[in-house]
Amino acid sequence: MNENKQAAGAPSTRPVFNSGDLIVGVIGCGVMGRGIAQIAALAGTQVKLVDSRAGAAQAARQELIVTFSKLVEKGRLTQAAADAAEQCLHDCNQLPDLADAHMIVEAIVEDLTAKKTLFHQLESIISPTAILATNTSSLSVTAIAAGLQFPQRVAGFHFFNPVPLMKIVEAIGGFLTDPTIVDYLIALGTHWGHATVRAKDTPGFIVNHAGRGYGTEGLRILAENTTDIPTLDQILRDCAGFKLGPCELMDLTGLDVSHPVMESIYQQYYEEPRFRPQGLTRQMLTAGVIGKKVGQGFYQYDNAGKKISVDSAKQSSLLPSSIWISPADKATSAEVRTLITQLAIQVGVAIENEDSPSATALCIVTPLGEDASTCCASQALDASRTVAIESLFDLSKRRVVMTTPATTAAYRAMACGLLSADGAAVSVIHDSAGLVAQRVVVHIINIASDIAQQAIASPADIDRAVKLGLGYPHGPLAWGDVVGVKTVLTILDNLLKQTGDPRYRASPWLKRRALLGLSLHHEEA
Ligand code: NAI
Repeated sequence: MNENKQAAGAPSTRPVFNSGDLIVGVIGCGVMGRGIAQIAALAGTQVKLVDSRAGAAQAARQELIVTFSKLVEKGRLTQAAADAAEQCLHDCNQLPDLADAHMIVEAIVEDLTAKKTLFHQLESIISPTAILATNTSSLSVTAIAAGLQFPQRVAGFHFFNPVPLMKIVEAIGGFLTDPTIVDYLIALGTHWGHATVRAKDTPGFIVNHAGRGYGTEGLRILAENTTDIPTLDQILRDCAGFKLGPCELMDLTGLDVSHPVMESIYQQYYEEPRFRPQGLTRQMLTAGVIGKKVGQGFYQYDNAGKKISVDSAKQSSLLPSSIWISPADKATSAEVRTLITQLAIQVGVAIENEDSPSATALCIVTPLGEDASTCCASQALDASRTVAIESLFDLSKRRVVMTTPATTAAYRAMACGLLSADGAAVSVIHDSAGLVAQRVVVHIINIASDIAQQAIASPADIDRAVKLGLGYPHGPLAWGDVVGVKTVLTILDNLLKQTGDPRYRASPWLKRRALLGLSLHHEEA
């Protein structure tokens, strides 16, 4: 390395963040560029806006000034702070206006050639010590940097939409990136008011990698005809605590975006079965049924864009004469046992406590990663009178009843009648290894564990990024600890045994921690 190369990107040459002297060029004034400019200017960074579309930088500056006024009206910003932020915004007409920038954040079109060409042009304009950051969400930082004079100054700075509200940014070092550049981005992101996480340059970085489990497992459940679309979404919202079901989420994002991302991550990881997409979304995309923006996706939307709601909860007033709850999985089914016992007492249904059920009892099993048929076979139960109940998640709003292929309509209705006796909703699903919520949640935990195993990010950063970037009820590794790491492993092992699909093979990170009784956050000394 020559002296010039060693100096390239050296953070010591940049002004301190809060001096008001730091100049950042934001290139691309679309939704992301404007959002990045907003938080940077509010933090006192001098922002120079550039866009290849004539007038776009000027329009972006005006729009941001209006945003600042609105924030003042709402009482979220003082007039003095809005005035100061406005003074920090500068619209420029061309790239040479960025000659004095200490750093560039590009948020142009998501195209490798366009981003590489832009950075090549900038090399002859900006100082050799200036940082080149890319907001790419799906391209390789290493590929963008390849062939540049100083690839070590190129890093990913991946924000989420809308930037001012999604308070998380991933700082990504490419293969040749100087680690101090990533340190600088971490500190700058923090100064701009965001939580910052550090990730290796791998497909999807942290959030878009960890987020692959939810949609793909939901789609697989639909592909197996375990349940219908509204039931899938309702279970994952009401029992597991997700804000939106996977189909609701894909409708919001649009399959024109989410299906290609599913295919791309699957291909970039060389057909890793954990990320395998399903044909349904490819077919919907081909048909143009891509979600809310066209009025039809997994759901129908009215002219105001409101989802036409469908409730598929099962109503029944039938009750069994007696119930028998399987003693297998006793530890994880304590809550469900208490609930069912209370409901049975409330409606006068007898509770059988013998080792095996009477000839007419409704038989209830609470499997972990197994289907109800397997429970019947291994426990010698009459499948026509047996249902499985989800026992791992919140039971207050909704209960899930899973039938065997032999369960009669009468016993299914009795199970629904008993479980809805206190007014809670009941969803009925067909037999499935891992029911619905179990298999989706453990799949997410397993993918996050493997992100930790590959050292793409630290366990703390994985959880922080997923909670803030995806809004899941827990960070996935913390969620594994809540469910119990051994229980997660049991579910995955049973899913693998029942399906034979390597999609469910447990990550070594998770397996070793389960065997040793350690938290999923445990890192080696
Ligand atoms: P956009 O399409 O809204 O805006 C892109 C802007 O860049 C346009 O104003 C366009 O005129 C300008 N532009 C295109 N090529 C240019 C060039 N060579 N030089 C200067 N300006 C150029 O795009 P959006 O959504 O703001 O995304 C920008 C980047 O951020 C992309 O890399 C995208 O993948 C990434 N990203 C987008 C997210 C989103 O939800 N929209 C989330 C996270 C990252």
